[in-house]
Order: sequence, then C-alpha cells, then structure tokens
Amino acid sequence: MNGYKNTQAGTKAAKSCREQRKDSDNYPENENSRTNLLNRLYDEAAGDPRIFWENRATELLSCSRRWDTVVEGDFATGGLRWFSGAELNASVNCLDRHLQNGRGKKAALIWQGENESDATVFTYEMLHREVCRFANVLKKKGVAKGDCVSLYLPMVPELVVAILACARIGAIHNVVFSGFSSVSLQARLHQCKSKILITADAVNRAGRALPLKANADEALDDCPDIKSCVVVRCSKREVQMVPDRDSWFHEEMASPDIGDQCPAEEMAADDTLFILYTSGATGRPKAVAHSTAGYLLYVMYTCKVVFDLKEDELFWCTADIAWITGHSYSVYGVLGLGGTSLIYEGIPLYPDPGRYWSIVEKYKVNIIYTAPTVIRALMKFGTAPVEKYDLSSLRLLGSVGEPINAEAWRWYHDIIGKKKLRIADTWWQTETGGVMISPLVASPPEKAGAAAHPLPGISAMVVDELGQQVERGRPGRLVITSPWPGMFKEILRARKKTDRRGGAVTSTGYDTGDGARKDQDGYYWITGRVDDVINVSGHRLGTVEIESALLTHKSVAEAAVVGIPHSLKGQAVYAYVILKSSFEQSGELLEELRDHVRAMIGPVATPDVIQYAEMLPKTRSGKIMRRVLKKIAADEYEHIGDVTALADPSLIVDLVEGKKKH
Ligand code: WTA
Repeated sequence: MNGYKNTQAGTKAAKSCREQRKDSDNYPENENSRTNLLNRLYDEAAGDPRIFWENRATELLSCSRRWDTVVEGDFATGGLRWFSGAELNASVNCLDRHLQNGRGKKAALIWQGENESDATVFTYEMLHREVCRFANVLKKKGVAKGDCVSLYLPMVPELVVAILACARIGAIHNVVFSGFSSVSLQARLHQCKSKILITADAVNRAGRALPLKANADEALDDCPDIKSCVVVRCSKREVQMVPDRDSWFHEEMASPDIGDQCPAEEMAADDTLFILYTSGATGRPKAVAHSTAGYLLYVMYTCKVVFDLKEDELFWCTADIAWITGHSYSVYGVLGLGGTSLIYEGIPLYPDPGRYWSIVEKYKVNIIYTAPTVIRALMKFGTAPVEKYDLSSLRLLGSVGEPINAEAWRWYHDIIGKKKLRIADTWWQTETGGVMISPLVASPPEKAGAAAHPLPGISAMVVDELGQQVERGRPGRLVITSPWPGMFKEILRARKKTDRRGGAVTSTGYDTGDGARKDQDGYYWITGRVDDVINVSGHRLGTVEIESALLTHKSVAEAAVVGIPHSLKGQAVYAYVILKSSFEQSGELLEELRDHVRAMIGPVATPDVIQYAEMLPKTRSGKIMRRVLKKIAADEYEHIGDVTALADPSLIVDLVEGKKKH
C-alpha cells in the first residue's frame, strides 16, 4: 500500500471533506450577477489589453516582486514575454498563501482510489507539508532549479505532490502518461534530459494491477542520464529495485533528515514551470513549455470565468493529470484559487457504469469536467446507472477534448444536468494553457455542440488558406489573433512563419490547426483538426507518429495513417500498409502490426483497422494524398473529389476494393 492509502478510509474521507466545506450542496448560478461580471470583463478587455491582464494579475497572483511590464513583443516580431520582472513561485500561489489566509484546515485535494475504501483528503496544511517534504527529497537527490524531473505515474496523490514539489524548487516537471509504452517514455526521457524519474510499481485498472515499474525499467535501460528512480507503492506487485538507483517514495519521505519546511525558489515570470509532450504534425512528439506567471494567471482566470469556481466548491476534472487538462484544472487552476480538487484513480466503467455518479454523490461534487468520449461510453448503458445516485450537488457540467456531438450534449444536459445545468463546452489546447472558447452563461441560449464565444481578453478569427477572414457561416481555420498570458513558450520565441501548419504563428496570429465556423449569431463551432493530428477518445495523436511506429516493423515498406469517424471514440486510427516484397499478407501479420504499434506508442494509438495496399495515392511530387485515403477509409467514395493530381488515378479502384473487404 502506498503511504497515503487508508490514512482515512472512504466513508470517513467523504464525511470529513463534506464537513470541511460549508454549504456545499447548493450553489445555484446567479445569471444576473454573472452576466454583469462578464459584461464588465468584456468592456474592460475591449480597452487596453495590457490594463485588462494587469488587473487580472493583480487580483489573482501573489508575487514577491511585481512585474515591470505586462507584455512585451507581438506576433509579428516575436519576443513575446509576459510580466517581465515579476518574481513568484507557483507552489506558494497554490499552497502557502492559502495557509496565510486561514484556509489551512480546508480540503485541498481529495483522492478516490479505484478501490472504494482507498481514499484520502489532504487539507491545504497537509498538502503543503507533503509537497515541502518531497521537495526536500528531490533536493537531496541533487535536483536543482532549472532541472527537468520526469513523472510517469498513475492518478495517485503522489503525482500532485511531486508536481508541486518540482514547482517549489524551480525544477521543470515533465509528466508522461502512464498509458504510454516504455518506448514512448524513453523517447521523451531522451528529449528532455531528466536526471530523475518518479514512477510507480503498478497502475490499478479494473481490479488488476498492471505493471508500470517494469515499463520504466525497460525505458531506463538506455537512459544513462537518469541517476535516480523514485517508486510509489500502489499495489502489492513485486518489482525489481535497482540498487543505488531506485528507492521507494514512502521510505524517502519518512527519512529522518527530510524536514516539513522547504523554502520556495523565487522564479522569474518567464521561467518554465513545466513541459508536456504532445502530438504535432511531425513524427516526433513536441515539447510544449509553459511559463510560470502567464500560465498560472491564465489557468486561475479561466477557472474563475468559465467555471465560476467558488471557495467552498468541489471541482472534479476527470482527465488524467498527464494531459494539459489535468495540469490546468486538477492542479494549478483549482489550487491557485484555493478550491478543492477531486482526483480519481480509476476508469468510468469500473466496477460498473455508475461509478462516476457514485463519486459525485459521495463527495457532493459541484462541478464535473469530463470528455465527450466518456459521456458516449456511459450513454450506452442508459439512465439506470445514473438514477441510482443523487446528483443534486452538481451546479455546472464541463466538456473538453473534442467536439461534443449533439446526442452526447443532450444526454449530458438532460440526464446528468436534469435539463437545468449549463454545459461549458470548452475549446482549447495544450499550447493555449487554458480554456479559450466556451459558453459562459446560459443566456444567450447554449447551442448543443458549439464552443460558443472567446473568453474576455481572447480574440479569435476564422480564416481561409490565405489567412483572410472568411464570412460568417463558412468553414475555415481557427486563429487566435492577440497574445494571451497562457500561451506556450515556443510561440513567444517564434517569429512569423510562412508555413501554414497548425501550431504555427502567422501574420494573423496563432494558427491552432483546428477547423472552425462562426455562425450568423457569432457562435464558434469547432469542426476538428485540419492538420495531420487525430483525436482518439480525446487523446491527441500524430498520424506521422503512428506511421513511423509502423515503419519500424520489419515487414513494412510504406504506411499511411488517417483518422475515421468513430461513434464512441470520436475518431479511430485507420492505417494503410504496403509490405516489403518478402512478406506475405496475412491476418496474423495484421495482429502483429497492431501489437507493434501498441508496444511502440501505447494502447490509445492501436490502429482499429489496417488495410494492406499495393500502392498509395501520391501527387506527382510524391506527397501522399491523405484527403483521398481519409475518404476511402470513411466509405465516402462519392466525395473523393479531384484526383487529377494523382500520378496513377486507377489505384483508387484497388484501394476501394481493399476497403470493402474490411
Ligand atoms: C480538440 C486538450 C472541439 C481540438 C485541452 C484541439 C476540441 C485539441 C475541444 C487539443 C472542444 C479540445 N471542441 N475540439 N471543446 N477541446 N478539442 O492539446 O482539436 O490534448 O486542437 O488539449 O483537441 O488537444 P490537447
């Protein structure tokens, strides 16, 4: 058992957390006061953006030295920098200042294990102590300001403790999703040059303990820079500990030389708080870095303006903390505001499809923030698993990760929200740090599936391929036209680029790589990626990444991957593979290829379909025509469009024939 499990068993934990939160049952949204607040913010934002963001920073951030300038630089010239001159520490903003404000005994973090009786409530005081202690452990291991610490952990409280401990000593955290394979972990460790890895013995999934330390060991086989590996005990699974390299988290924390206090490093506003690897349009995962002051301000601001989080409310973001959503809305946003954050170790369907709603009832969750893929998975089981539980504590429903289809929206609204609750369908990305576009009030009326309106302070535009604004109602690419504090750091350095791939800075602003449409009423509708990124159950995957994985298999000569619509996952992975001449097409080989991708990247990337091909459609200059492959994979043969650019249009017939066999 890890050090935190069973310190307070489930029911006791639930009870104590309710007692610590006064009045948690009912927070009806006050439409009028919210509308007034938002109008004031929009008015303010229409003036000088520097004054707007300066006011937000003054309201929300605690800095030991105030900034000299709010923002420098612009999109055209690069050199963008927020709050230059300021000094602050993110862990102080999330912990110490709440102790000083008398919130020490208030619940900061509630952890619910997959096992019902595994649960813990950390007050701000307790979390502060654990964070300081682990910060001291990191220091003892030689971690210093500016070093990168990699975390490969499941959803256990140690992950939050480790994140904030890094922030406390100015180390840059790099959280790697525990569902990723050893190969993916190793690639990330090589790229970020960490000297230390924090991992766990196992991941508890649907009643089983899946190995994690064994994956980490495989990755560490070829990572000579990693000198220490700290292991969290999550199960009873046997693991091998490498002498002089590996140690147990709970033993390190209990060491007599580890103290309860750890002075926080003063960080410059622009110092990197963390990096996160995500998929881009190229084969290599790209590191997205976020700054200390700008990011922290932006996630706190959005937590307030989108979710209207109140001091005594309980916020449950169901995303894994390894994604940006968890960083921003399980950790920094909620704790920055002094709220209470709930994290859950397990999956929505275990032990039954009522699990999420039982957690809502047990802890009286006020705001739930989840993904359309989860809603679609739960909808399948009908309303009975929901009706067993009292969901009256819920005040607001959030959605993130992919466009929410009308059917899922309706179910979320009618069955979970009892036709009363607002749905915040929040559009944003790893690169944006926090929510950019979302419905903010119930009136004007929500439109099912529209991300609706840019937040006060955010300006967006829908443009065509040439960067010109398109008319309302017409599709185009979504571009963010003015800088915002949560912007990722690469953008800050970037100069205007001429290439028009998603994630690039163009003359109009930051090109998000998403398609969008602004309707006649001014609502934004996000239509999905227009670049080579696909979105499987809210996980972002690069098609090139999967192709590269396939190409490392001995039998594969060429591969092309596209996304196809999928009723549960949003999109599914469809791969076309050309074998080397010495290999025979067979069903077993298809299985082997699927397993290969799973081992190279992780289960989320496993192709749903692999189709053998003899040739791939290419332009005369040799570029694979994915547009064509996408249409064939989705059975949209009539809409294949213009194929005159194809070197050999007749191969389309072969591909369609091959598709029909699947
Ligand atoms: C997609 C997750 C439509 C979009 C926070 C974006 C969405 C990508 C929505 C970023 C939404 C996220 N409606 N699409 N509400 N939210 N997306 O970096 O394609 O993991 O570019 O960040 O998810 O995924 P990422």
